[in-house]
Amino acid sequence: MFRRTFINLVVVFAMLLALGLSVASAAPPAQEELSYTIKLGDTLWDLGEKYLGSGFAWPAIMAATNQKNIEDATFASIKNADVIHPGWKLAVPSQADAEAFMAAYDSSKPELLFGSRASGQLVVGSWWTAGGEAEGLNGMFNIYQKKYPDVEIVNATVAGGAGTNFKAILKTRLIGGDPPDTFQLHAGLEVETYSPEQYLEPIDDIYASEGLEAVFPADLLTLLKAYGGHYWGVPVNIHRSNVLWYNKAVFEANGLTPPANFDEFKTVAEALKAAGITPFVLGTKDGWEAGHIFEDILAGTLGAEKYSGLWTGATPWTGADVAQALENFKMMLSYANPDHSAHTWDSAGEFLIAGTGGMMIMGDWTDGWFTSKGFTGYGWASPPGTKGIFVALSDSFAMPKNAPNAENATNWLKVCGSLEGQEAFNPKKGSICARTDCNPALFNAYLQSAMVDWSQDAIVASMVHGAAAIESWLTDYKDVLTLFVASGDVAAAQAGLQQACVDAGVCQ
Ligand code: GAL
Repeated sequence: MFRRTFINLVVVFAMLLALGLSVASAAPPAQEELSYTIKLGDTLWDLGEKYLGSGFAWPAIMAATNQKNIEDATFASIKNADVIHPGWKLAVPSQADAEAFMAAYDSSKPELLFGSRASGQLVVGSWWTAGGEAEGLNGMFNIYQKKYPDVEIVNATVAGGAGTNFKAILKTRLIGGDPPDTFQLHAGLEVETYSPEQYLEPIDDIYASEGLEAVFPADLLTLLKAYGGHYWGVPVNIHRSNVLWYNKAVFEANGLTPPANFDEFKTVAEALKAAGITPFVLGTKDGWEAGHIFEDILAGTLGAEKYSGLWTGATPWTGADVAQALENFKMMLSYANPDHSAHTWDSAGEFLIAGTGGMMIMGDWTDGWFTSKGFTGYGWASPPGTKGIFVALSDSFAMPKNAPNAENATNWLKVCGSLEGQEAFNPKKGSICARTDCNPALFNAYLQSAMVDWSQDAIVASMVHGAAAIESWLTDYKDVLTLFVASGDVAAAQAGLQQACVDAGVCQ
């Protein structure tokens, strides 16, 4: 019965089309996408009428349901429009999506009613090559691959911590019109360097379709929208910049506890030195590590509020407290491994694992790295002066304009924002979820402590990891610190930091 009616209606529909009418011209009420469970007596025609204002829109419901079924088997697979069963779950598209589908629909091509599997490539750009971060990324790839088995994931990493090399290569690719499909981007002002209006896709619609504004903390949402009032990336995590890692066995053997302030740092360092251990290990090979440690020293010397003021112009770079921060750094550097310029953050960490080094200041990706190395003998504390301060950053994934595989990239961003994506990624990465609903039991003791701190500390933005300032300021800041590590010239470094702030247009 339905079939006969249905065939008649198809004929009528074809006539209407020939007359130049369309489903859209009936101007039915706007409708959000929804899922519907079939009841006895329902037909697709009736559902089209009920939800989309016209029975003629039934193909849009069939196609949307079959498309959903490919990724989520709880949705029905409809082989024949006349044969649907009570209890089946259907996807009813939004009015706008239904109209778009019907406008392109060609009834002589029944294949349009059956979903198509995503295929082709997904080129993911990042700098995650070290232990922990590479495993975390893989965790997210696995989730993606299960959902989209026909897509080939291309892991387009460029080694170099903090994106030292990646960012320049990405810029060239964006400008050259040859972008990856998606790429790593720090939440905050870093995005400015990629001329977002010209080269990036705002992704506000993904936030809307995935309900992301309800699952990320308000402050993070503000940071993500800091440039131009749009969302440019989906955050996968929260990292802490200010952690002092130490070798527990070394500290125990020497009767030491982690230093809470700069004077204690000196005392502990002297004791380690006397025991023949390198007190403070670091690598400065990639040009950002000294700047990283110094942002934590600034926070520890100035306190949260004055630290934050440095990036807005409220705190002068010319003050005695900034000079003191440089003196503190100089003192710490006097206990460092002399070959630091030959080491990266992770190769320097090997000294800590071996017990030939005592302390190290680095972000909490180090937790993921230690774990990937099977090393459990590490302790953690706030670097001097930063108890109760959380210097924060967040990694996100963004989408360029004209991504070669834009649909695959959109699906990737959805995985990035999802609970299962974040739970697969963060415990390995050594970060906590950007989402507020991850299960803490999946995380190790350090990360559980970071979750507590994140919920109660004063949160300030990291400079070196893209949150606090634009990239050109960061470049100048890093250069000043690199010179300082070599020269130890406090006055010259302070003048350089002030000039960098002036050049960024923030200081006078
Ligand atoms: C940061 C990034 C972290 C980690 C680190 C070391 O910039 O946010 O996720 O990868 O660099 O490479």
